[in-house]
Amino acid sequence: MTNGAFDPQGPIAQDIADLWWLMLALGAAVFVVFAVVLGIGLARGEASNEPEAPGRPNRLVVVFGVGMTSVVLLVVLGATLATMRTVPGRGAPEDALVIEVVGYQYWWEFRYPDHDVVTANEVHLPVGRPVELRLTSADVIHSFWIPELGGKLDLLPNDINTLVLEADEPGEHFSICAEFCGLQHAKMGFVAVVQPAADFVTWLEEQARPATVPSEARAVRGEQVFADAGCASCHRVRGRGAGVDPGAEVKAPDLTHLASRSTLGAATVANRSAELRAWVADPHTVKEGIAMPATDLAPDDLDAVVAYLEGLR
Ligand code: CUA
Repeated sequence: MTNGAFDPQGPIAQDIADLWWLMLALGAAVFVVFAVVLGIGLARGEASNEPEAPGRPNRLVVVFGVGMTSVVLLVVLGATLATMRTVPGRGAPEDALVIEVVGYQYWWEFRYPDHDVVTANEVHLPVGRPVELRLTSADVIHSFWIPELGGKLDLLPNDINTLVLEADEPGEHFSICAEFCGLQHAKMGFVAVVQPAADFVTWLEEQARPATVPSEARAVRGEQVFADAGCASCHRVRGRGAGVDPGAEVKAPDLTHLASRSTLGAATVANRSAELRAWVADPHTVKEGIAMPATDLAPDDLDAVVAYLEGLR
């Protein structure tokens, strides 16, 4: 994991970070000049101990108050307009990779429409290729933001916002919803994994495969429990018998390759056996108020479901 917006790893993020540093430097300079002038004024006032007679405005006040302020604001305006030109909103390049992003309370769906891939809470991007993100929401307004790649943009219900990003180097970036969207807004995260082109293609191919489940007896029983307990009425597992009708409304994260992801519950906890077991038993102990109910499974059944889910590589 890296250092957020101060560690830009793409051309757009770099431009935004440069603008931010320029504004910080100007703001700091203005503050220092202001503090010095104020200090001098206070010292003089104390020395003379006489109220100044009203008259023509001091030339220094005019020069700094009007002249310098205008110059600083013009410089900031110019730099902002230049940065806005480099941050493309619409009009992605021809070779851009299209990813559809849907925000839900409180998780993310990522679809790669040209590759038949659907996943959740973990988006993979290739290095050095523009990515066209088509953002929308299934419920309220969320906001998409990968701090190291820049370009924060809202996800609106019944509308599509397009964001074009590019990553310069491989890395894993923790990303989070940037618009208050309800009780668990702070736990609506995702992991952005930037990979070299060849690794990305391998990942895409693996994700496009239907689910495979180990033949181990416990995992096989777990799949049955998964169906009987009602999990399969919300979660899709592509290629398995029990599952949601492909045309039905999406209610929960696709679990086809759950075991390949590094986190659970929209980057809330690590994807390990103990956390997975606790999550399936009652996710509200970790993330209160989410749509998934507690399952109330017997310990044996719980173990079986965990074995099944851990087999979904
Ligand atoms: Cu979704 Cu905040």
